[in-house]
Amino acid sequence: MTQMDKKITDTARIIKNSKKMCALTGAGISAESGIDPFRGKNGIWNRYDPEEYAHIDSFMRNPGKVWVMLKELLAVINSAEPNLGHKSLARLEEMGFLKSIITQNVDGLHQAGGSKKVIEFHGSNAFVLCMECGKKYNSKEISCETLPPKCACGGILRPDVVFFGEQIPPKALSESFSEARSCDVMLVIGTSALVTPAADIPVAAKENGAKIIEINPERTPLSIDIADITIEASAGRALPAIIEAIERT
Ligand code: OAD
Repeated sequence: MTQMDKKITDTARIIKNSKKMCALTGAGISAESGIDPFRGKNGIWNRYDPEEYAHIDSFMRNPGKVWVMLKELLAVINSAEPNLGHKSLARLEEMGFLKSIITQNVDGLHQAGGSKKVIEFHGSNAFVLCMECGKKYNSKEISCETLPPKCACGGILRPDVVFFGEQIPPKALSESFSEARSCDVMLVIGTSALVTPAADIPVAAKENGAKIIEINPERTPLSIDIADITIEASAGRALPAIIEAIERT
């Protein structure tokens, strides 16, 4: 048995013995759907400086400029399909093991993959909001021919996501930490665990006695003393293997 096989089998056993498992996901789970992670080689933050494009102050100063990046992101997201990683999490929920997913992603691919209980920690790109009248539009329905896109009332539209410099939506924040403090297993998948408060979620789960299983081809700050098991593989490879091991044993 390889070391990887042993980690997969151990994870399957931990999941089978768990009473309440939840998952925290990041950009890495959508990499196999063709959405490049933020901090990877092809990541958007290598082409668009986050200080300039992802901060609320930049958006308020020059929404048209930030919308150039958002337009690119929306085009990629709107044509992406859920991959085996997303579908496996939906399957784990269906099997009764996974109770919730807390995601930092704004691409809606967990829901598209069949997951029911999803907490969107950083909001969602599915909708945009008018900064004047608050009207909400489906982001697939707005025209991005002239940027920034505008509401019928003339107000500028913004994505329904959390920019740097903004608060996490209070409901998502409290629900996520309550899930973290009440689960006995947490899967942490495809996140560099560098952006707080999301990165504090597995720490809260660990402090409460949960076992932490990390799935990430690269090591992260969590790999050192938070994760009980780190599976160094892609989500699309590791998660189906875990399900197979659960079904086999
Ligand atoms: P990052 O881009 O920082 O990290 C992605 C992680 O996924 C890295 O650790 C990769 O090693 C890993 N990864 C890459 N491919 C993978 C695969 N196929 N399977 C599993 N893991 C893989 O993304 P996040 O941690 O999600 O915030 O970034 C956190 C936040 O920073 C984002 O939500 C965003 C950004 O600023 C906002 O939008 C507010």
